[in-house]
Amino acid sequence: MIPEEKVREVAERLSIVEVVSEYVQLRRAGSNYLGLCPFHAEKTPSFNINPAREIFHCFGCGAGGNAFSFVMRMEGVNFPEAVKLLARKAGIEIEERQLTPAERKSQDERQQFQRINELAAGYFRSVLRDGEDGDAARRYLAGRAVEAEISEAYRLGFAPDRRDGLVKHLKNNGVDLDLALTLGIIRKNDSGWYDLFRNRLIFPIRDAKGLVIAFAGRVLDASLPKYINSPESPLYHKSSVLFGLDMALPSVRTENAIVIVEGYFDHLALYRAGICNVVATCGTALTSTHAGLIKRHAERVYTLFDSDGAGKKATLRSMELFLEQRIAAFVISLPVGDDPDSFLAQHAVEAFVELRDKARPIFDFFVRSLLVQTPPSSVSNKVKVIGELAPVFKKIANAAEKSLYEKEICRLLDIRPHEFRKQVGGMAQTPPQEIAKHQEQPTNTDRTQEMLLALMATFPEAREAIRDQGVEILFAEEYLTLAEAMLAESINSDTPDWGSLVGRLENQPLRDILSRLLFMNSQLDGIDWKVAFDECCQARFKKQQSFKNVSLRLAVIEPDSPEYTALLKQAAEELRSRRLKP
Ligand code: UTP
Ligand code: MN
Repeated sequence: MIPEEKVREVAERLSIVEVVSEYVQLRRAGSNYLGLCPFHAEKTPSFNINPAREIFHCFGCGAGGNAFSFVMRMEGVNFPEAVKLLARKAGIEIEERQLTPAERKSQDERQQFQRINELAAGYFRSVLRDGEDGDAARRYLAGRAVEAEISEAYRLGFAPDRRDGLVKHLKNNGVDLDLALTLGIIRKNDSGWYDLFRNRLIFPIRDAKGLVIAFAGRVLDASLPKYINSPESPLYHKSSVLFGLDMALPSVRTENAIVIVEGYFDHLALYRAGICNVVATCGTALTSTHAGLIKRHAERVYTLFDSDGAGKKATLRSMELFLEQRIAAFVISLPVGDDPDSFLAQHAVEAFVELRDKARPIFDFFVRSLLVQTPPSSVSNKVKVIGELAPVFKKIANAAEKSLYEKEICRLLDIRPHEFRKQVGGMAQTPPQEIAKHQEQPTNTDRTQEMLLALMATFPEAREAIRDQGVEILFAEEYLTLAEAMLAESINSDTPDWGSLVGRLENQPLRDILSRLLFMNSQLDGIDWKVAFDECCQARFKKQQSFKNVSLRLAVIEPDSPEYTALLKQAAEELRSRRLKP
C-alpha cells in the first residue's frame, strides 16, 4: 500500500496537463485543454482537460478521471503502479520494489539535479553571509532594509564576480558538470566552464514544497539586465511556478486568498510587512497553469501589479484567466509610481491593508479603465466601449454578478439594458466552446439522475435537499453509489474538491460519470436549482411508479405481503392504461 499522503504529494507535484501532454498533443480551448482522445479513434478532438480541477473527460467515448486514472488506462497498470510511475516522474520517493535500471536512472538524475541546486544555493548563501566577496551585497541588502531573518527566510545569496566560483564549488563536491549545465546555472565555452550568475544577488526559486528548482539573480547597481533567471530545465518550468508559494501556503490557507505581485522584491516587501499570503510570477505573464494553481489553494485572488501601462495590461490579461477559471479576482491599486516595495517603505502596513480592503473586482476595474480610455460621450464611443466589453462580459460565470454588472454598465454608459443586450448579442460571437460540440451524451445514461448529481456538485442547498429527501429514493445503482460518495465528500466542506474525489473513486464507470458532470456543470449557471431539483424529483418518482419498476419490484418481494397486492393492482392499471393509449 502507498500511504494516502504520498499519493497526495504526487498529485500536487504534477499537473494533469503535464502528465497527459506526454501522450497527447494538447491545445488550449478556453479554460480547458483539448486533444485527440488516446482511448478511441477520432478525427476531431473531444478529449478535454480541466486544469483547475485536475481531471480529464472524453465526450466521444466517455472516459474520464484524473492524472492517475489516465496513466492507468494509458499504460494498462493498476493504481499503485500508476502512482509510482508518476511519483518517479515527480522525483518523489516511494520505497518498495526494486526499480528497473531505466527508472533508477531517471530518479537518480532528478535527485542529482536537486542536490546540485542545493549545493549552489548553499554556496551563494555562504558567500553572502560570510564571504569576503559578499560585502557589496550585504551593504546592498542593508540599504534595502533586508534584515538577517528575512534574508534567511528567502535563503538569499550572492554570486561573486568570479568566472567560475560556482563551477569550482560544484566540482569540489563531485558534481557531474554536465548535469549542472542542463540546469543552466553553469555554462561552457572554448576556455572552459563558467558561472551563469556573476556579481548578482541571488533569489533561490523554490517549489511549493520548498525545494530549490531555479535561481534569479539581480544586479547590485543600475546595469542591465536587472535580473537574469535560470533557464527552463527538467526541474523548472517558469509558467507553472509561483515564487514564494512555499512560504505563503500557511497564510493562504487561513486567509483563503492569494496576493499576486510581479517582482521578487515586491514579494519580499509584503512578506516582511506580515502580508504573507503572497506569490510572484517569475518574470513571465500569468498563465492558466498559474491560475489553476491559485485556484487549488484559495478562493480569492488579488492582483497587485504596477500602476503603469504595463501593469495595467498584465492585470487585464490575468482577468481573462480568472474569469475562465471562475476565481474571484480583485485589483489592488497603488498610487501611481509606487510598487509594493516603495509603498511599504513609506507607509505602514495598515495603509496597505486599507488599499487591499478597497480592492475592486477585476471586471469593475476593467470597465472603469475602458471608460477612462474611451469616455462614453458619443454614440460611437459607447458602441466602441461595448465592443470591447462584450467578449469579456460573456465570460463572467456567475449569473447574479453578470446582472449586477449589466446594470452598472448601463448606468455608466447611460443606455437601457435591452440596448446593451442587443449590442452584446450582436457582437461577433466568441467561438462556441469546443466542448459544446461533443455534448451529446453516451447512451445508457439517465439524464434525470445525472442532472441531480450535477445540481449536487454545484449547489450546497441541493445537497441538503437530497439528504432530506433520502438519497436512496432519488438514485439507483451506480448513480446511488456516486451520490453517496459525493455527500460523504461534502460533509465537512461547502466547497468540496470534486476533482480529488474523481481520483479517489475506485470504480471506472463512476469516475467517467463524475468527470463528465464536472465538465458540464458550467451549463447550470444562472439556473434556479430548486426548480430543476423539483422537476428531477417528479421525473424520478414517476419513473419509479412506472410499470417496469413495478414488475421488477414484484419479482423480489414476498407474494403474500400487502405491498405485493397493491403493486399487482397498480401493474394491472398501468397495463390497461397503456392499451387504452392510441
Ligand atoms: P521589477 O523591475 O519591478 O523588479 O521587475 P523588482 O523585483 O521590483 O526589483 P527591484 O525592486 O527593482 O529591485 C519585476 C519582475 O520582473 C522580472 C523579475 O521577476 C522581477 O522581479 N524581471 C525584471 C526579469 O525577469 N528581468 C529583468 O531584467 C527585470
Ligand atoms: Mn521593485
